[in-house]
Amino acid sequence: MCGIVGVTGVEQALPCLLHGLQKLEYRGYDSAGVYLMDNAGNDAYIREKGRVAKLAEKAKANGFIGTSGIAHTRWATHGNVTIENAHPQKSSDDRFYLVHNGVIENYQELKAEYLSGVHFVSETDTEVAVQLVDKFATEDGLSNVEAFRKMISLLGDNSAYGFLLIDTKEPGTLFAAKKKSPLLVGVSDHGNVVTSDAAAMVDVTKEFIELHDGDIAIIKPDSVAVYDAQAEPVDRQHFTLEIDPEDTDKGAYPYYMLKEIDEQAVVARNIAAHYFDEEGQLQGIGCAITDKMKEADRLYIVAAGTSYHAGLVGKRYFEQWAKIPTEVHIASEFAYDQPMLSAKPFFIFLSQSGETADSREVLYNVKKQGFPGLTLANVMNSTLTREADFALPVLAGPEIAVASTKAYTAQVLVQAILASALGNPGFDLKAELAKVAVEISAITDEKETFKKIAETALKDQKSAFYIGRGLDAAVSLEAALKLKEISYVQTEGFAAGELKHGTISLIEDGTPVFALLTQKKTAGLLRGEVAQVAARGANTVVITSKSLTKDGDAFVLPEVAELLMPILAVIPAQLIAYYATLDRNLDVDRPRNLAKSVTVQ
Ligand code: G6P
Repeated sequence: MCGIVGVTGVEQALPCLLHGLQKLEYRGYDSAGVYLMDNAGNDAYIREKGRVAKLAEKAKANGFIGTSGIAHTRWATHGNVTIENAHPQKSSDDRFYLVHNGVIENYQELKAEYLSGVHFVSETDTEVAVQLVDKFATEDGLSNVEAFRKMISLLGDNSAYGFLLIDTKEPGTLFAAKKKSPLLVGVSDHGNVVTSDAAAMVDVTKEFIELHDGDIAIIKPDSVAVYDAQAEPVDRQHFTLEIDPEDTDKGAYPYYMLKEIDEQAVVARNIAAHYFDEEGQLQGIGCAITDKMKEADRLYIVAAGTSYHAGLVGKRYFEQWAKIPTEVHIASEFAYDQPMLSAKPFFIFLSQSGETADSREVLYNVKKQGFPGLTLANVMNSTLTREADFALPVLAGPEIAVASTKAYTAQVLVQAILASALGNPGFDLKAELAKVAVEISAITDEKETFKKIAETALKDQKSAFYIGRGLDAAVSLEAALKLKEISYVQTEGFAAGELKHGTISLIEDGTPVFALLTQKKTAGLLRGEVAQVAARGANTVVITSKSLTKDGDAFVLPEVAELLMPILAVIPAQLIAYYATLDRNLDVDRPRNLAKSVTVQ
């Protein structure tokens, strides 16, 4: 979703900001813009619809480089995708420029109350915010920080924002503020930066300061001052980002998604190395976490998208190994329609980004009710990790492609390890994880097979199905999401037994039906369902495990402990989705309308 970068005191602001915007592209956006200035008061204001590359062309033609500036990728919420609605937004007198992530719920009311004489050129809530700052500074004579604070104080309680503001009369100073949306200040001895995503600025600095909700920061080339919501100066925690800039590069891969699919074996090894010591003893999960979980009478896993699907698999581990009843909930449902809870609930927030607004809303609500919670996130130092009582890393490494792959397998693995800390899996989990890593590579080595399946079974198809039972049904949901979100083939993931209650009527001659068949107990029944759809014309593609295979199956998965088979079964689906998308000449990493990190509710 929307992304923010800003710099001050650097030698060349434009290339720094454009590079940052490119690093933010993965989050999803539909327009971009930049405002640049130097100490002599020269400036440039450039915005463009579509890709950052188009903005870069326009900016390079303009030729101004600047020493400070703010830039933004916008994912439209208020108003269509137009140049006028792109950020930065500016005040009518060209004094203030503002970029904004989030939503101001009462912007129409503020516009009517304070800005009736002002001519607006965009449909955005952000323009209201910048015009307000200008009014309070220019007409009412408030200092910049006072004007900024006053504008923020007028925003409705449910508003979310990451703001970055420039006053043309104060060259080199950036004003930043945040609530619910992430915003970090990066410091270095060759200029300071602000960003909504540390990875975007990692080439400039790895040292960041976390802003808290309600904070305002004043960032100059050689200083950063942070004030809390009560306008008191505060020292916020510094942290060093532990990523190599190369981790966020594609290397020789044509797309991030393929790189991330291939990385899954290494991710499995890294997770095992982090959570087990040399003797095979669990480490890194404190007793404080396991004690609290053991006290609970029910676990509630809350998540969105792919993370929700990972939760559906995790449920099995918590129930079967830890013997704790577990429910899995969609964050956007739970947040606004909380179901009846057990007497002693414990919450697990599963999230790649740690920033999903709906999951955060649930965390906020359940904390208010006094319930304990743990976040399992890929991005540590994110909102969900900071605000939960406990946090554990998922360790997938930076995931850039919008379609999540390695974060899913990592989330499943970390849930398995956590469940094993609470109960007994009945086998040597560490040894099995080593096997899982080897077998992931064996599957990703078979790319040609999946390319062929994608190019034949899905050729010219507009719809498809993934079916399974039990854990295979859970993986079917994720498999279907992968295919539909990037190839736009309308795909349903289904608990196979439900087909006959309605959906089987959609099966036509040649409809691709992928069956995931890895669970012994239900294999026979699932074979029956495969036969039923085949009898109605479906083109069935069975992906099964070694001991369950039959003639005619499309792919045989290597065998690991049955409950860990979801980690292997999802990989063919990821690769089939990838190749089907390539075959349609679509952008694998940036599917239309989607964002990597969904920071609006
Ligand atoms: C977006 C992403 C998905 C992700 C979902 C939840 O829709 O495109 O890949 O699964 O958000 O995000 P989270 O960061 O909380 O896992």
